Amino acid sequence: MFFQKKGEALTIDPLRLPKHIAIIMDGNGRWAAKRAVPRKAGHKAGAEALERVITEAKKLGIEHVTVYAFSTENWKRSDEEVAAIMDLLRQYLKNSFQRFLKDNVRMQVIGDTTRLDKDIQDQIQEIEEKSKTKNGMTVHIALNYGGRDELCRCVQKIARKVANEQLTPNEITEETIGSFLDTAGVPDPELVIRTSGEKRISNFLLWQVAYAEFYFTDVLWPDFGKKDLEKAIYYFQNRERRFGGR
Ligand code: IPE
Ligand code: IPE
Ligand code: MG
Repeated sequence: MFFQKKGEALTIDPLRLPKHIAIIMDGNGRWAAKRAVPRKAGHKAGAEALERVITEAKKLGIEHVTVYAFSTENWKRSDEEVAAIMDLLRQYLKNSFQRFLKDNVRMQVIGDTTRLDKDIQDQIQEIEEKSKTKNGMTVHIALNYGGRDELCRCVQKIARKVANEQLTPNEITEETIGSFLDTAGVPDPELVIRTSGEKRISNFLLWQVAYAEFYFTDVLWPDFGKKDLEKAIYYFQNRERRFGGR
């Protein structure tokens, strides 16, 4: 846990920013419950928080942000809630991401998109294509994403290569595995943020977080803003990262 002393200023060193921040955006439901509004309203406020945080991260100079928007387990929620989240996603891809494009932001999706509605798959393809030359920062959205599902799909791809004699078992290295994950070519997240007080990984980026720093905050995702992002980065910059050495 991280405590900021009253009046203590948070000085962020612009030369030691995490290249990649991954965020488990949790607490939309509790935010809504606190206000006695439908869960859907919580997700809407969460989408607005995301827009804020992307804008701030870009201003700070963060290169990659990966956000957990919908997990492979979230299908267990009511049909009504899943439909509400998917509708918000449609709007997000249509509005917010068109604005980000103008701001030189690239968008990529990780996860198994084949289970999403066809119109959403088309929207994703269009934005990924339109944004692929943008180099301001990259936002990776995890949709129908699960770390275990990603590893299964990765192993299947590698097994196919071996079956076709394009690869031998001894040639399978950590780099090989990394190159068949959805995050191929993207540096591992150095900082993982989870909001709403839960301290678990919930099947997010299992392989990639091997040496990430974790920042947990009780702030509910819809309330998360610039100050909270700065606090998380300040926390990161005050960790001693050892990577197994001494
Ligand atoms: C996170 O908020 C959004 C998604 C998982 C889609 P939750 O909906 O999990 O909010 P809580 O955990 O119920 O408060
Ligand atoms: C993790 O949050 C998934 C997303 C933020 C999309 P959940 O609310 O689904 O996770 P659990 O159920 O608390 O582990
Ligand atoms: Mg939750």
